[in-house]
Parts: sequence; structure tokens; C-alpha cells
Amino acid sequence: MEKTFLMVKPDGVARGLIGEIISRFENKGYTLNRLEMLTPSVEIAEAHYAEHKEKPFFGELVDFLTSGPVVAMEWEGENIIAVSRMMIGKTNPLDAQPGTIRGDLAATMSQNVIHGSDSAESAERELALWFVSEASHVS
Ligand code: TYD
Ligand code: MG
Repeated sequence: MEKTFLMVKPDGVARGLIGEIISRFENKGYTLNRLEMLTPSVEIAEAHYAEHKEKPFFGELVDFLTSGPVVAMEWEGENIIAVSRMMIGKTNPLDAQPGTIRGDLAATMSQNVIHGSDSAESAERELALWFVSEASHVS
């Protein structure tokens, strides 16, 4: 069965959306395998978003992700990588359809309440990164 990494970002935690977001995936029929609440270090935030390190928004992205607690999760289910990305919705709020998590709950590009792995390779890399449970990952 396929596994993916989903994370409620600091804005989602601060706005009290953890339950709403977890419920969407539970209601879909997926299984929550692992969950950890932590405030990410700069090191793990930069590693998580390494693919974006040359982008103009990288600094703000890392500042945002390290600004408060997140909920890091491993979820499992049939085709969960592709389906969870559909459930999450597009990155740009102008494109995020109503009915998706971002379409319903997020109004800005930079603070968009949830992260989800975009491929099998990303899922494997991100799960390994977030679930090693080393103290250096927590600030
Ligand atoms: P990206 O991986 O493109 O989006 P997604 O989260 O849908 O996989 O970008 C990572 C995060 O970076 C995105 O969730 C929000 C932020 N971001 C910006 O702040 N500005 C931008 O122009 C883009 C593309 C992303
Ligand atoms: Mg992405």
C-alpha cells in the first residue's frame, strides 16, 4: 500500500485546523500511521524544501515553516500520493478549487495550511527526513 507525507503547516495549526484536515483523510478512508507535532528547525525546513532553494520565496518559506508547531504525518492508502494532492488542491489560491483543502481553507499562496508529497520519490525522501526523531530537528 502506498504511503505519503502530509503536514499541517504552522498557519493550519495556529488556526485550529488540525482536526478538520485529519478528518478529511480519515473520511476518505486513508490510514494515519504516524504523527508528530514539532516546531521545525531551520535545518529540516531547508532540507524539506531543498528543491526550491534557488527560488525568490525560499527565505520566506523557511521562515514560515519554522515559525511555530507543525503536525508531521505518515498516511497510507491506495494511490494516496496522487489523490491526496487532488484533495489538497493547487498551490495558487486562484486555482485551488472549492472542495479541496486549500480551496476551502486557504486564501494565500505562502500560507496554505498543508503540505503533501508530490511523487513516490518525494514521499520516500520526506518520510525519511521527518521521522528520524532526532533532537536536532526540533528547535
Ligand atoms: P510548491 O512545491 O510549488 O507547492 P506545493 O506546496 O503545492 O507542493 O511550493 C512549496 C510552497 O512554497 C508552497 O506550498 C507555498 C510556497 N510558495 C510561495 O510562497 N510562492 C510561490 O510562488 C510558490 C510557487 C510556492
Ligand atoms: Mg511541493
